Amino acid sequence: MHHIISIGDFDRNEIDRLLDHARQIDAKKYDKNALYGKILAVLFFEPSTRTRMSFESAIARLGGTSVSVGSVEACSMAKGETLADTVRVVSGYADAIVIRHPREGAARLAAEFATVPVINAGDGAGQHPSQTLLDLYTISQSMPIDGIDIALVGDLRYGRTAHSLASALSLYNARLHAISPPGLELPSALSADLKDKGMEIVEHDTIDDVISALDVLYVTRIQRERFPDSASYFNVTSSYRITPELLADAKKNLIVLHPLPRVDEIDPRLDESPHARYFEQSKNGVPVRMAMLMKVMQ
Ligand code: NCD
Repeated sequence: MHHIISIGDFDRNEIDRLLDHARQIDAKKYDKNALYGKILAVLFFEPSTRTRMSFESAIARLGGTSVSVGSVEACSMAKGETLADTVRVVSGYADAIVIRHPREGAARLAAEFATVPVINAGDGAGQHPSQTLLDLYTISQSMPIDGIDIALVGDLRYGRTAHSLASALSLYNARLHAISPPGLELPSALSADLKDKGMEIVEHDTIDDVISALDVLYVTRIQRERFPDSASYFNVTSSYRITPELLADAKKNLIVLHPLPRVDEIDPRLDESPHARYFEQSKNGVPVRMAMLMKVMQ
């Protein structure tokens, strides 16, 4: 059985093959009934717009359907049911489960109890592998991924999209520029692991210091919901903002990505700039997740 829990579950070949498949899907070269009659359970215990809707759109475009509980309050976990039991039960109703949960490790636990494939759609501050695959796909639309200079900006401590993407990029010889407010640096275990894998990680105090060297500027939201208290959140809020002026010295081909939602990290004036790719990026969630569903459900 094929679970997708962490981007580390993929080797470089598997990622490249999945991105190729997503490209074919984007070019409309796929069987619209590839998952006819299959049911995807969408088990989201945290807010979501893009991830949830693009998975639902993906299964629908392949001829399958999705089922879900409306919200955590609406399902039996509100009555004290364990995640293990919920997942065991849901396995009886669907052919695969996509799960998002506020606790790190929850998707791995779900996979232990599920009798159908589980896809991690975000586990607390842990991992977000489907986001990483669509991030890589979006980069590959503009440049070869190998050897890029990429800055990860923002909440690198709690941001699961940053964690997964950094891990994946260690397979592509990328140079990582890390820029975060104090206290929100990449977890030390993760950066040690990446350095062990040969990745070059350079920390910077400001985006200005490095902007002219970058191929990709990956901006993230401060993960307010993971902060222990609101005072520590307000200490770092609004500490960085990407503006057209900031990009004045950027390479012509620099692309700006953001997993979204954005709060105030990206000036809306940037939206019209040829550098801005975050809306294409979110749209790419559909073909990439279609390729993922075919991989685990076919
Ligand atoms: C991200 C997430 O949920 O981790 N959103 C998404 O899936 N596109 C990023 C975020 O919430 O900041």
